[in-house]
Amino acid sequence: MKVLVTGGIGYIGSHTVYELIKAKHDVVIVDNFSNSKKETLEKLKNLVGQDLSFYEGDVCDKAFLEKVFQEEKIDVVIHFAGFKAVGESVEKPLLYYQNNLESTLTLLEVMGKHNCKNLIFSSSATVYGSPEHLPIKEDFPLSTTNPYGTTKLMIEKILKDLYQSDSSWNITILRYFNPIGNEESGTLGEDPKGIPNNLMPYIVRVATGELEILSVFGDDYDTKDGTGVRDYIHVVDLARGHVLAAEKLSGLSIYNLGTGHGYSVLDLVKTFEKVNNVKVPYKITDRRPGDIAMCYADVTKAKEELSFEAEKTLEDMCRDSYTYIKNCKKQG
Ligand code: NAD
Ligand code: UD1
Repeated sequence: MKVLVTGGIGYIGSHTVYELIKAKHDVVIVDNFSNSKKETLEKLKNLVGQDLSFYEGDVCDKAFLEKVFQEEKIDVVIHFAGFKAVGESVEKPLLYYQNNLESTLTLLEVMGKHNCKNLIFSSSATVYGSPEHLPIKEDFPLSTTNPYGTTKLMIEKILKDLYQSDSSWNITILRYFNPIGNEESGTLGEDPKGIPNNLMPYIVRVATGELEILSVFGDDYDTKDGTGVRDYIHVVDLARGHVLAAEKLSGLSIYNLGTGHGYSVLDLVKTFEKVNNVKVPYKITDRRPGDIAMCYADVTKAKEELSFEAEKTLEDMCRDSYTYIKNCKKQG
């Protein structure tokens, strides 16, 4: 199978390319490096031990995409390309609506024209808003609280409408919970620019001494230790989920990709300290506006229909996240 991976140099995309190649699929990558580095392409080539078919360009650029589809006979597209920072999306909503929606619309148009109607789309657990019950099932009500989340919800709606108009499409929407970690050699990983917003990248920077102390946003939630609970999933498991989904594309389907387990902020801090033998100083601060107490997936559907089950533990996630950053530091 020849798989086009848009945003394939990014955090989840690069791990998915690696898993696709391990599963003996052909891969074509498109990325404009708006949130990734050219050196990651070189690292990825070294990791997979082969050259990679790569096109630098913007998925919003129709002429560019046309060229890719003319030159490559694509069977399936996995569409990761998009912007993902919640805070930035509140400050620059038009940028988010433009990039996330236009890239998807352009991609769908060009795919349809070339009769490639097999798509996997990166959605997010953010589309569940503040869930009333746990664990979260795929048929729960949807709502969003920020422009980033709204782009995901709008794209999901576009994909449902498209399928309704033409059922020869095969579309799988994957709703990720909280991806962390990286492949175990520490070649690929996540190293956000500036001060990280998400928990694991922040913990890592405190562990390396780049940041002084972690702020734990609230210890008065109705959870086991009062801190927020999330369903952290190892990015390698998440990437494997994409391979299974690509191999089983049929009709319109929606799956949660998580582990089904909820871990608190303090679970993460303590596990990170233990497996890496480092200290992560923290202080309790106010809740972060917009945060929910708990969020974890019901993973039954992905297990039954995709045979997908997350295998890696919280220990693996904490160890691997640190390996990557230590490697980056060594290389300067
Ligand atoms: P990332 O920013 O690391 O990767 C996205 C890649 O897409 C980057 O390499 C970027 O350069 C590229 N890109 C962006 N716009 C593009 C465009 N118009 N044309 C070509 N390339 C473009 O993000 P990620 O964490 O790998 O996330 C991948 C997808 O998964 C995104 O759609 C994101 O919204 C979604 N998602 C991510 C998370 C998460 O926690 N990381 C959670 C839920 C959903
Ligand atoms: C965030 C995004 C969500 C996205 C998800 C996965 C927001 C509001 N939501 O969710 O849209 O789908 O990432 O990428 O940004 N925490 C701290 N201190 C910190 C950072 C976080 O205590 O410095 C806590 C949070 O309160 C939360 C948990 O850690 O309880 C996880 O936070 P984070 O990693 O930002 O992910 P989400 O809030 O789940």
